[in-house]
Amino acid sequence: MRSTNLPNEGESIITSGATRPRLTFLGVGPLGGTYAACYAELGYEVLGYDVDAGRVEKFSAGELPFHERGLGDLVTKNLANGRLRFTTDIEEVAEFGDIHFLCVGTPSRPDSDSADLSYMESCVASLAPLLKRRCLVVGKSTVPVGTAAWVQQLIGRHGDPDVHVEVAWSPEFLQEANAVDDVLRPNRVVLAAQSQWAQDLLEAAHKGVFELAAVEDREVPLVVTDFATAELVKVAANAFLSTKISFINAMADLCDVAGGDVTDLARAIGYDARIGNKFLRAGIGFGGGCLPKDLRALAARGKELGVAESMRFLGEIEDINLSRRAKVVRLAAEMTGRDNGPAGPELSGTRITVLGATFKPDTDDVRDAPALDVAGRLAAHGAAVTVYDPMGMDNARVYRPELTYANGLADAVDGAELICVLVEWEEFRHLDPEALADLVAEPRVLDGMNCLDPQLWSNAGWMYRGMGRSSR
Ligand code: UGA
Repeated sequence: MRSTNLPNEGESIITSGATRPRLTFLGVGPLGGTYAACYAELGYEVLGYDVDAGRVEKFSAGELPFHERGLGDLVTKNLANGRLRFTTDIEEVAEFGDIHFLCVGTPSRPDSDSADLSYMESCVASLAPLLKRRCLVVGKSTVPVGTAAWVQQLIGRHGDPDVHVEVAWSPEFLQEANAVDDVLRPNRVVLAAQSQWAQDLLEAAHKGVFELAAVEDREVPLVVTDFATAELVKVAANAFLSTKISFINAMADLCDVAGGDVTDLARAIGYDARIGNKFLRAGIGFGGGCLPKDLRALAARGKELGVAESMRFLGEIEDINLSRRAKVVRLAAEMTGRDNGPAGPELSGTRITVLGATFKPDTDDVRDAPALDVAGRLAAHGAAVTVYDPMGMDNARVYRPELTYANGLADAVDGAELICVLVEWEEFRHLDPEALADLVAEPRVLDGMNCLDPQLWSNAGWMYRGMGRSSR
């Protein structure tokens, strides 16, 4: 995260004296929690709300219920200066806010790929009847196209007809591990409002972001659009990012059979500004609480709206993504000289260390984490798997209690016949292969995210395999 030019305690970045609407963020998970603290930092009076009392208690005590770089300091500072508060009391929320941001989760439904809007429904249904003055309800959560209109209907059904409550939409694009910067310094702001009043209020709510950009001599592009587009922007962006990752993973497979190196290939095509060099890291595929479920939800929504054929490629993107996990298991069998027969890889008794459990580095989030899934698959094929992750151990234990977790790195690799580096944590990137060779039973390393230096490891006597780096 970049250092900020933000004000000292008690001061606000907004110096113009413009009217600042009071903001509430409903749902203080990684999205709403980060927004609440960052907007308090930008000078707004903010109230964060959640039905999860544990979360609210933690935030109120200045602790984070999840890891996010740089967020702790903002929470502590803004609790102390009184601009930031948290509550489980929805009546207090209704009374406080000029603008209510909906930040609740929209996971996959248990019975289908569609987004589950039940949290949004209960949140809006409990807030609407309590709203006693003119205010704006703004969607931030990732939703199927058509949701904004549905939220307006919900408010109509549950709210007081004499109180003017308008819906607007403004998707977010924050990336875990960079979320504070993404909120304070977004690379674009997208707004959809139905009236000039709503538009003005939304702009007032984003004034702090634009003022910080001006102080830092940056531009923040603003896209003002309609509801459908604003809703689609978010899922389209996530689908495009997923497509880039699956594309490069498909190229990795080609490199493997043709004898190429996908990391060189990605670098070379990335120099073309039309392609760009981001999100072209081949490896074990994408995971997390967003890309996989958003991809599935977009395909499901497209089908509902009659464009299943146009969305068909999204299924391919997902298939390529999941095939990475099976590929790691096959590679593990190959590297340990085990059987890759028709019944699948046979790894009984092989001692395998999996380094990494989170869905990416610098987070403790293990939702849909490819690394943890691969660890489970290796164990299901008979391997004795030990997992170590610098930050994700507590969450991994909850998701995958059946796996064995090490106390530290040295403990994890002790006696291993194969080490699989599946998340590109700094701690793993800089492992010393010479020193590590003394601890393992066999010096074999599977570099699932192509984050190690093949030459360095080979020179230290290790058998090295990356993903799409067969020439190394
Ligand atoms: C993603 C998007 O990047 C954000 O813009 C979006 O706002 C967010 O979802 C959301 O919908 O809320 P995030 O889930 O935090 O953010 O994670 P990413 O950094 O996008 O990484 C997703 C997965 O892709 C990780 O498993 C990562 O390891 C993998 N990945 C990423 C690759 O395999 N290769 C790459 O080149 C980049």
